[in-house]
Amino acid sequence: MVTAESPPVPRHVAVIMDGNGRWARERGLPRAAGHRAGAEAVRESIQGCRDLGIEFLTVYAFSSENWARPKSEIKALMSLLEKFLKDKANELMDWDVRLQAIGRLHDLPESCQNQLHETIEKTSGNKGLTLILALSYGGREEIIDGVKSVLDAVRNGHIDEAMITPEVFSQHLYTRYFPDPDLLIRTSGEMRLSNFLLWQISYAELVVLKKNWPDFRAADLAECVDEYASRHRRFGKL
Ligand code: FPP
Repeated sequence: MVTAESPPVPRHVAVIMDGNGRWARERGLPRAAGHRAGAEAVRESIQGCRDLGIEFLTVYAFSSENWARPKSEIKALMSLLEKFLKDKANELMDWDVRLQAIGRLHDLPESCQNQLHETIEKTSGNKGLTLILALSYGGREEIIDGVKSVLDAVRNGHIDEAMITPEVFSQHLYTRYFPDPDLLIRTSGEMRLSNFLLWQISYAELVVLKKNWPDFRAADLAECVDEYASRHRRFGKL
């Protein structure tokens, strides 16, 4: 049942893009080929979100835990990211997409950080979809960074300890400029959150698809949104 509290189209969709490696293995290809195909699926999802009128799309592109992968895979992912940011900048402009990023961005290679900031700056005036890349991102790490930021604010006398509420704490997270996700999509069948947006997804609807991320198409996004629209979000109330 769709209620006033759950409009049929989510404002913010977050995606755990899983299964690039499996997609490549099934085709006898190197893992990097799976990530390349995954980047194309991101492009398709951006278009899908625009067509559906979704305002925010957050994609989990590189987790804090991904730093433990082999150096060669990290290198391939970082150069793919840099290439994506460079090659797609004009497309993002044509599509009126504003790029943003969350995570410990200072951990990224310098050339990647420079390209990221350049594309963020270039697209900053766009008014359509906001695409948020989660990079070197971990939900627990974000909460720790948020706690440190709140402690600083208390120490500096900007806020009183008694004023710390969930709303105030949210203002100390990387995501302070965005609404919480309404819908969380995960591909490739695993029923896990993998340290993604732990604070923000408290009331998000979850949809897990069996297919691997590189096979994700705009039609799959539309199906997930239909599923979301069929849910009755109660936010803990009756
Ligand atoms: C999970 O698949 C995916 C990642 C670790 C990275 C996601 C990256 C992309 C989709 C491409 C780059 C993104 C942008 C925005 C340019 P996995 O490798 O864990 O797959 P597996 O579980 O099948 O091994």
